[in-house]
Amino acid sequence: MAAAAALALAVTACGGGGGGGDAPADAAAGGEDTIVMGFSQVGAESGWRTANTKSVNDAAAEAGIELKFSDAQQKQENQIKAIRSFIQQRVDVIAFSPVVESGWDTVLMEAKRANIPVILTDRAVDSADTSLYATFLGSDFVEEGKKAGQWLLEQPESSAGPVNIVELQGTTGSAPAIDRQEGFAEVIAGNPNLKVIASQTGDFTRSGGKQVMEAFLKAHPDIDVLYAHNDDMGLGAIEAIEAAGKVPGQDIKIITVDAVKDGMQALADGKINFIVECNPLLGGQLMDLAKKVVAGEQIPPRVVTEETTFDQAAAKEALPTRQY
Ligand code: AHR
Repeated sequence: MAAAAALALAVTACGGGGGGGDAPADAAAGGEDTIVMGFSQVGAESGWRTANTKSVNDAAAEAGIELKFSDAQQKQENQIKAIRSFIQQRVDVIAFSPVVESGWDTVLMEAKRANIPVILTDRAVDSADTSLYATFLGSDFVEEGKKAGQWLLEQPESSAGPVNIVELQGTTGSAPAIDRQEGFAEVIAGNPNLKVIASQTGDFTRSGGKQVMEAFLKAHPDIDVLYAHNDDMGLGAIEAIEAAGKVPGQDIKIITVDAVKDGMQALADGKINFIVECNPLLGGQLMDLAKKVVAGEQIPPRVVTEETTFDQAAAKEALPTRQY
């Protein structure tokens, strides 16, 4: 059955005939041999996202894939509209980075019925039916949260006495916010000194991070550590910490996720203490997977991105050659 399905995909996929079923062939997007990809991006909320968008655009151009790009401005309804429009246009493959985890089954079923393969990139969905998408390419966000917690666990302060932590969460309901919180909580649970005293969303933006950190600082005069789910929120929080007369990186230790250039600069400058990398350069792998899936080849159901971590010394070393 799998072989038959793969063959059906291969026959119908290329040149915009991507599973058009009974729809007329001349409604197809793109030329005969060009693969057409509909890509729905989350938005432009962070430096990470900007680097990811560039990577996808550059890789599509390099791979000779026609990209229909849509920016959802961090709204699920816009992503659903974009996916429906890609189905109508009968693209060969749909890729998207889901803004939140839940609520995708109906639209993914529509893509499946139209025989258009879907690749999840960067973020996962929580659909129980994994046949609704071909693969998920992206980071292990739980692991990222664990790495952040592990670093904190290894600091001398953690065994010296109580450590008050505040957490800036990413977009509510998004896979990275859920998983980074979970991974971090799991690791620090082993040490009763480490306590998250406040946790709130800053929506992955610099302005959100600044605003929420201002409120944290007013409500809690005794913050020891900030764990921010991305660099941008950490950078916004640094502005709030400095405005409150405190020294980021010293009075309040800061852990973030991403390792984009601005974050790495703040780490090298001593304002951040530790960054867990989340690699946005997914474009090349995405285009390879798209070509294979359109050709009806087998692809792995999960492709995990390789990532590292940076302390202040490592950031100084890496900065001159950092691509994003
Ligand atoms: O999904 C990846 C996350 O989304 C990045 O960590 C964050 O910066 C972005 O907005």
